[in-house]
Amino acid sequence: MTDYKMMLAEAISGMTDISNEQVYELVEIPPKSSMGEYAFPCFTLAKTMKKSPQSIAIDLSESLIGKLDFIERTEVVGPYLNIFINRSIFCNDVTDHIVRMKDKIGSSDEGKGKTVLVEYSSPNIAKPFHIGHAFTTILGQAIYNLYKHLGYDVYRLNHLGDYGTQFGKLISAYKRWGNDEALAEQPIKELLRIYVKFHDEAKMDPSLDEEARFHFRNLEKGNEEEFGLWKLFRDLSIKEFDAIYRRLGITFDDMNGESFYSDKIPEIVSMLNDRDLLVESDGARVVMLEEFGLPPCIILKSDGTTIYASRDIAAILYRKRKYDFYKNIYVVGNPQALHFKQVFAVADKLGLDASGSCVHVGFGLVKFADMKFSTRDGNIILQEELLNECVGKTSEIIRKNREERQTDMSDAELSQIAEKIGIGAVIYTFCRNSRDRDIVFSWDEMLDFDGDSAPYLMYTYARCRSVLRKAKASDYDPADAVDGFNTKVTDEEFELIKYLHGFGDSIRKAAQAYEPYILVRQLNFIARAFNKFYNNRPILNCEDSELLASGLRICEASSVVLEQGMRLLGISPVERM
Ligand code: ARG
Repeated sequence: MTDYKMMLAEAISGMTDISNEQVYELVEIPPKSSMGEYAFPCFTLAKTMKKSPQSIAIDLSESLIGKLDFIERTEVVGPYLNIFINRSIFCNDVTDHIVRMKDKIGSSDEGKGKTVLVEYSSPNIAKPFHIGHAFTTILGQAIYNLYKHLGYDVYRLNHLGDYGTQFGKLISAYKRWGNDEALAEQPIKELLRIYVKFHDEAKMDPSLDEEARFHFRNLEKGNEEEFGLWKLFRDLSIKEFDAIYRRLGITFDDMNGESFYSDKIPEIVSMLNDRDLLVESDGARVVMLEEFGLPPCIILKSDGTTIYASRDIAAILYRKRKYDFYKNIYVVGNPQALHFKQVFAVADKLGLDASGSCVHVGFGLVKFADMKFSTRDGNIILQEELLNECVGKTSEIIRKNREERQTDMSDAELSQIAEKIGIGAVIYTFCRNSRDRDIVFSWDEMLDFDGDSAPYLMYTYARCRSVLRKAKASDYDPADAVDGFNTKVTDEEFELIKYLHGFGDSIRKAAQAYEPYILVRQLNFIARAFNKFYNNRPILNCEDSELLASGLRICEASSVVLEQGMRLLGISPVERM
């Protein structure tokens, strides 16, 4: 496919005294299509060329015409040169490219030879997988997919919260009140029950805390009994988390949690000592970070045990050695922003260049507008419950549709479709806004089949596929539809194809900013433009063979882009709904 902007930049650069790259940076996409597809502002040139911007624009306008065959016409508006592209050339070229690229559409090799780590999800053993964990899981998976598509070597890391003094409490609680049957049935629920009980009892009997410390010390020493229980709690919790991951279609490359790094901390301590960076503060050993404007970072507590931050510092060193990463991305909620600043600052002081390669990708809070959950436990809303509710509501909608339209959809198909749409709706909601903004979940919005929602994208995709199936059934292969845009391309078609053309750019921008919403927005524009096109002109019932060819070509290109876009977000499209 022609790189229109680049060709334009080269041509303009050849007529002026600024480089391709400079022109490329200057070229704008005008806000309205009546102003052309590209606009070149001429003020920058005015100084060096000692001419008014307007006369430069006029000169350029005259020389450009006839130089590039895809330029239809130009227009000088004040200091701007507006450029209009030949619609036929553009539409044939872009749709042809999409149809040939298929699932590679929007991919690139910009990441070749570069390793990117995406750390996400990272729930805590023996604790519920709550809505904040759902946010990191979905966002992290989308970021992973985007980088993968851009050719990076990407690894998915799950930094499980599987270490810390709370495990001493849990072991103590289990030995006192644990119920094996309950543990086998609903492990996290049972572990949470005894953990809460431990806290209540310890208020009355402080010796319990001493007992818990004793068990934690034994765990650190690798004592068989404590280690065995810790491992049991960990294995059972992971099994529960896995059920959610399976449902979301997620796997990890590395499940090394906090415990994995605990024996790697002595090396960090000695590195810090070698550089004279550890100072004593109230018995604890800390690294001062005044030069970064940050509070000190504790490395060892007064009793010599390690903390969350020390384990993160050890993890950076380990990952540097193992992966030699280009980027190490942490998808973790905004409340931990200070923690990561401190960790990166300490790692910088150790010469690990964390500030150049480690990124904290934060996100906001999750709120609920019109939802009631049965097991609302404080603020803990379980991911599983959210998925079940959403899938259940989706089933109702699809079932009603089935009755109204009297289709032959079987119950099994219906439930498969509802599962995909319901989960898609949850994923979409997490990804549709810039991640710093708080999210408000509302059924009305999430399941609005005509809104800013997954069902809307999925419905549009299913629509494209249905047209293509019908075409195939009447022996028409859309692949034959070559050069269908030879006569007039309507405004609606042109607008849609411009959005399809912008797909690759939206992937690059979304990855660069760690903001899947940039891709979501592009897909929503595509779906809106597609439906406008779909409602305004015949596709299969066309006498004119060129019109038939261009309509089918649009359906095929749109379906390729929508499908790939949804997959990058983690949404599985369905063929009908
Ligand atoms: N387990 C933590 C939590 O649930 C998140 C861990 C984030 N990652 C990290 N490397 N500190 O809050």
